[in-house]
Amino acid sequence: MDKILVTGGSILNGRVSASGAKNAALPILFSTLLAEGEHTFDNVPLLKDIESTAELLQSLGCESSRDGHTFRVRVSKLKSFEAHYDLVRKMRASILCLGPMLAKYGEAIVSLPGGCAIGTRPIDLHLDAMKALGAEIELRDGYVFAKADQKTKRLKGATVLFEKTTVGGTQNLMMAATLADGTTIIENAAKEPENVDLANYLNKMGAKITGQGTSVIKIIGVEKLTPARHSIIPDRIEAGTLLIAGAITGGDVTVEKCQPHDLDCLVSKMRESGFKIDIGTDSLRVHPQAKFDAVDITTAPHPLFATDLQAQFMALMTVANGTSVITETVFENRFMHVNELMRLGADITPKIQVAVVRGKPGGLSAAPVMATDLRASASLVLAGLVAKGETLVGRIYHLDRGYENLEGKLSSLGAKVKRVL
Ligand code: UD1
Repeated sequence: MDKILVTGGSILNGRVSASGAKNAALPILFSTLLAEGEHTFDNVPLLKDIESTAELLQSLGCESSRDGHTFRVRVSKLKSFEAHYDLVRKMRASILCLGPMLAKYGEAIVSLPGGCAIGTRPIDLHLDAMKALGAEIELRDGYVFAKADQKTKRLKGATVLFEKTTVGGTQNLMMAATLADGTTIIENAAKEPENVDLANYLNKMGAKITGQGTSVIKIIGVEKLTPARHSIIPDRIEAGTLLIAGAITGGDVTVEKCQPHDLDCLVSKMRESGFKIDIGTDSLRVHPQAKFDAVDITTAPHPLFATDLQAQFMALMTVANGTSVITETVFENRFMHVNELMRLGADITPKIQVAVVRGKPGGLSAAPVMATDLRASASLVLAGLVAKGETLVGRIYHLDRGYENLEGKLSSLGAKVKRVL
């Protein structure tokens, strides 16, 4: 199984580009189920999760092909409405085929996703939203059996208030509502840039969505959608990870091809910590900063601090001056990286959903560590960049789910990072 070997001590310098956003590409690929014909996407990252999505779409009867970062999906009438457990368990986002299949064909059978390293992550809000649009939902044999009105095969528009902000729940509902009969209003909708990108693609296909990027989204149902071409937005989490990589090594790194304002909260926290950051039209540059201060962060839905950057920011705080309090409010169990960072010498006290990080500038030293989830793996690589000696990060398949060639990108900036067997 692949591992990554990081030799600490190099100062990163130079320019590097962000790839397309995994979390925008996944829902957009599932949205193809809403329209028969050929869909074309540019800037699709080369990632395991994209392959898993393609596999699931193929199991339903779609065809897909890739030419570099251009990805095509050909949708004809589905041969199956069942998303099998073997495919869903690999990737929780597979639940996003529920809304589109239900809206287009009036039925869907989707495996329950099961456990996950970062918390229980139920799908009750997705199911309640489908019920609000008139779907009948039955949970049986580990699967969700969903049916729209069997005479019309259509869902019915409704007002849905999410009691908790949910990125995926908002996506599923937005997709389902595009072909529903009547108007749907989503209240307390997730405002993430990836949801805006999804809404933009749905609108390119002929949907009538307004309010994306705000907490109230309005969708006027239409009869039919038609495939279109779309370029996936840049990955803000990858961009933020690369910026932190520059910062933690005291380097001068410019991350290009990103949407800087998607990272406003990270930038303001890094500035508060003492970093000088330039914001360009589509780039972010961190200037060299030998000493920086600990700052507190609290994760929350966009535009507040992204939970997907919490582990990487914690790695930065392990070598800051002072004590940082990191509060995780989105997931109940997202501190799996803490014990691994402590193996590298970090001084962290984890409590329930709060971690107290006592920074030790220059104080990390290498050790073999284990990636536990996608963003946790990135935090271990970042910590390895400043740990004395050679840090071997195991279970790197987590990283391949969400980072395109991270070792190549870091190496191009001067890091000593390589993949080993
Ligand atoms: C998405 C992202 C993930 C990110 C997360 C929060 C993708 C593929 N994944 O995940 O990287 O960390 O947003 O920004 O885009 N919840 C329920 N019931 C539900 C749905 C969610 O209780 O039906 C809870 C979750 O357990 C979690 C919180 O709501 O505590 C937020 O989850 P949600 O926003 O839905 O995350 P995902 O869409 O799964």
